[in-house]
Amino acid sequence: MRGLCGCPEKPVAGAKRLCVKANCNRKLTVKLLGMLNEVRKFALTCLLAPILAAGPLAAHDIITTNLTYTRDISRIFARRCISCHGPSSSIPLTSYEETRPWAVDIKEQVLSRSMPPWGAVKGFGNLLIDHALTQEEIIIITAWVVGGAPQGDPAMLPKEQPAVMAPPTVPLRDAVTIVTRTTLREPLTALGLRPVPDKPVGSARITARLPDGRIEPLVWLYRLDPKWNRVFRFREPIQLPSGTIVESSEPLRFALETTEAAVSGATTLSLAR
Ligand code: HEC
Repeated sequence: MRGLCGCPEKPVAGAKRLCVKANCNRKLTVKLLGMLNEVRKFALTCLLAPILAAGPLAAHDIITTNLTYTRDISRIFARRCISCHGPSSSIPLTSYEETRPWAVDIKEQVLSRSMPPWGAVKGFGNLLIDHALTQEEIIIITAWVVGGAPQGDPAMLPKEQPAVMAPPTVPLRDAVTIVTRTTLREPLTALGLRPVPDKPVGSARITARLPDGRIEPLVWLYRLDPKWNRVFRFREPIQLPSGTIVESSEPLRFALETTEAAVSGATTLSLAR
């Protein structure tokens, strides 16, 4: 049997020390640990329990919203979240049972625009696929959580999952790689921008200053994780005449994208010369 202090020796009844090992000095530690445990127990039973019981995730929430999981939230999630939070992900959000325990966290994630992780500021530049939630979607999710996150009628669930937004079919490739700032020597039809950062990007605004002085916003990267390998496609091709200055507000490596065809065209041209 081990002594109370954790030493392998047996405790001796009535001894001052908790064990007979001559240099064992753990009596005080044991006492302090005991006190700490008492404090912890008190905190758990007297302080935390009522909070937990009355917390926003309690079973007896008062429902103060007409929004429901089955009618409203499931449809937004199918469009915006399930591609990453599918059945085999670490945090699946494919049913009410899976979603409900995350409700408060979900509200915080969407309000801070941390989820879905998009990596760009909405409304800057003219991007083809915008993974960020609309203001309306954020309000619906937030109001649903604040209103008690009710399930609603299971019959209202979507009959089939909407098609996940198909990626555009035209393959793109790097036309020019830029480190922070460059002046284009050749005209370029830019179809997208591919950041190639070596570390997560906090905030970097990328613009093109055209020779006529106009500034074309390209994309404002925001909290971008390099492992997402995002290509930001422009809704319309952007014509950049030679002499255009393309620059990022922060040190950053990125590529301007164009189509296969445009690149092979360019190669042919230079070969012909
Ligand atoms: C592009 C992929 C992607 C999309 C789309 C996405 N998420 Fe996430 N989400 C993640 C990743 C990755 C994590 C981290 C998960 C992990 O640690 O396993 C995460 C974590 C979370 C977490 C837990 C955060 C925490 O750490 O407490 C919540 C809640 C969440 N996502 C909600 C959502 C919601 C709601 C949506 C849709 C509006 C969404 N996510 C869309 C990738 C995504």
